[in-house]
Amino acid sequence: MSDQKNQYVTIPRLFAKKEAGEKIVALTAYDYPMARIVDEAGVDLILVGDSLGMVVLGYENTIPVTMDEMIHHTKAVSRGAKRALVVGDMPYFSFHLSEKETIFNASRFLKEAGAKAVKIEGASPRRLKLIESMIEAEIPVMGHVGLTPQSINHLGRFRVSGKTPDEAKRIVQGALDLQDAGVFSVILECIPKELAEEITTRLIVPTIGIGAGPHCDGQIIVFHDLVGFMDGYLPKFVKKYAYLHETILGAVSSYSDDVRHKQFPEDAHSYHLKSGFDIRDLLDKKREK
Ligand code: KIV
Repeated sequence: MSDQKNQYVTIPRLFAKKEAGEKIVALTAYDYPMARIVDEAGVDLILVGDSLGMVVLGYENTIPVTMDEMIHHTKAVSRGAKRALVVGDMPYFSFHLSEKETIFNASRFLKEAGAKAVKIEGASPRRLKLIESMIEAEIPVMGHVGLTPQSINHLGRFRVSGKTPDEAKRIVQGALDLQDAGVFSVILECIPKELAEEITTRLIVPTIGIGAGPHCDGQIIVFHDLVGFMDGYLPKFVKKYAYLHETILGAVSSYSDDVRHKQFPEDAHSYHLKSGFDIRDLLDKKREK
């Protein structure tokens, strides 16, 4: 492992990377083995995204994800991540009722689940005030603009954001406002690459893109998409680096065939009695007594 891979990733280190023009590598993870692999590979930031709801829990979108589900999975990820910065995603309705409840929920990611920061979608004036309050409570916050999946019921479907002049201006303003509110980084999701480049140039804090082109300070993608865990539709911005769905399907089908055809377990997978006695003899003798 290189020295860089051994260094514990902190928020100042992410800023240093932006300054040095070094790309930040971010990825989602949702459990212990995933976090161990992602960490071992040298990823800088692990987001326990509320995408958990869709890729792990089988929900249609991220709306049903609860705080307890997020905490449960963030705990597992924190146990597996020794080096990467772990960020917990504030799920829908964990920050909509009051400032007090928002800060309490955000603090759970740090106090109970071992995360170092939280992420929150949106940049409305009310959201910005909440972000300021969280930061005041020593909770580092990552912002998120562009496509914000928790707005699915307004949007109707997941789609590219910021193509029109009005939308583009709103997204730039949102990113600037988030920076003013004190976030340490901003996720730019599904926006035109020219817009992401402009935001990245204007911000001091690092931008992390997903479907936002190559000019962001870093990139993030959903773990399951990267490794091809699921079959079916993937957005255009995903690059599959492995085909786990096919690999796992092949493995499970072979196992099923082997069990059905009595090919598994073999002797090599079986335990034996200590040599020197025959279990049938022993039991039969006992019965005779
Ligand atoms: O929930 C998530 O995984 C996310 C990232 C894709 C940015 O918000």
